[in-house]
Amino acid sequence: MNILIIGSGGREHALAWKLKQSARVAKIFCAPGNAGTAGLGENIALEAADISGLVDFAKSRAIGLTVVGPDDSLALGIVDAFEAAGLKIFGPRASAARLESSKAFAKDFMKRNGIPTADYKEFTSSSDARAWCRAAKYPLVVKADGLALGKGVIIAQNSTEALHAVHQCMDDGVFGEAGRKIVIEEFLEGVECSIHALVDGSSCLLFPDCRDHKRALDGDQGPNTGGMGTISPCGSLDDELTSRVKTEVLDRFVAGLKKDGIEYRGMLFPGLMLTADGPKVLEFNCRWGDPETQVLVRRLGSDLLDLLIATVEGTLPQQSPEWRKSSAACVILASGGYPGPYEKGKSISGIGAADALPDVVVFHAGTKSVDGTVQTNGGRVLGVSALGSDLPEARKKAYAAADLIFFDGQQRRNDIGACAA
Ligand code: AMP
Ligand code: GLY
Repeated sequence: MNILIIGSGGREHALAWKLKQSARVAKIFCAPGNAGTAGLGENIALEAADISGLVDFAKSRAIGLTVVGPDDSLALGIVDAFEAAGLKIFGPRASAARLESSKAFAKDFMKRNGIPTADYKEFTSSSDARAWCRAAKYPLVVKADGLALGKGVIIAQNSTEALHAVHQCMDDGVFGEAGRKIVIEEFLEGVECSIHALVDGSSCLLFPDCRDHKRALDGDQGPNTGGMGTISPCGSLDDELTSRVKTEVLDRFVAGLKKDGIEYRGMLFPGLMLTADGPKVLEFNCRWGDPETQVLVRRLGSDLLDLLIATVEGTLPQQSPEWRKSSAACVILASGGYPGPYEKGKSISGIGAADALPDVVVFHAGTKSVDGTVQTNGGRVLGVSALGSDLPEARKKAYAAADLIFFDGQQRRNDIGACAA
């Protein structure tokens, strides 16, 4: 079967790497891909948002399954367009992807379906939001309603900070249309943990848990990023909490969508806060996490294509994937300045030597090949992943491999898997 993967990040390289191991996969195309995906198949010069171009390509190359990475392609309705053209595609339709692309929609859905989450209020008027902030208890959290590249969440310690956040979102429009509507919610205390589950329209298959490290700098300092590294398992979710997540979050999610007449097929990735009152949902992502996918595929012992096809065809209960007992860690090597402005086009050395180490796989994110050399081409450049018998061993191997890779201005965290988040 020919596969088309949409996107160009480390997540897409990790999916291509795992799918390549499937005996049923013939050729892998990636649109637009990176230097890593080019080594596993063929990159196609089509952007992830070029939906009609991608439909035409999938038809012309007899693509048996398309796998979508980025949230904006889902929000634009790529799944609806492929289905209308009779093409098989992995991911939720736009009506379901709204659970990620509108925080207000997601909060309302959770409230109506008894899914535990922070108390909140939604605002479309900045004067109403300001009045609320003046009377509120602190800290609280101000969130832009729409997609804002992970930057639309502001934790306000006092009313001055909250009023500033409201002003930036609603009056100054720093997040564009995404911030014209906001959600203000209760600040939750606890430990963060990410869940991934395949959903086939009526049943769920829970993956092992993992933890992202969102802040740019060691000790959880600096601005939020797309994620500077991940570990799996995160060690905070015991059997009892896992079963609560299953019944209180996943089962209610599927039942709630059914009630609303929305069918969800694809990956569901809720961000959770494990509070003293139990797990609460911080957000729903309607796609694979990046760099969460990099550690999940390293731990998956079974064929990924079987799982993706079962999700699309509604036969997930027949699947029981094997997971390696090993721990996995992934350390992101980023361009200097990320998540702010950064330069591209720096030559990268050492990828081959790092990749050759036992239990190590280097996933490409923002890279491109230029005359046979690999150069930086984005904020997050590489994800160095390793398996170990436990987390300390996995992180030691990942850092030993990362130490072999060089490019100008490289920035990384040195505490992935060795701090709370
Ligand atoms: P989100 O995009 O909604 O997951 O938020 C991004 C990050 O902000 C989360 O990973 C948390 O670290 C933090 N956050 C979001 N909502 C809350 C909340 N209600 N209480 C505490 N921290 C939060
Ligand atoms: N690493 C966080 C995300 O993919 O949303």
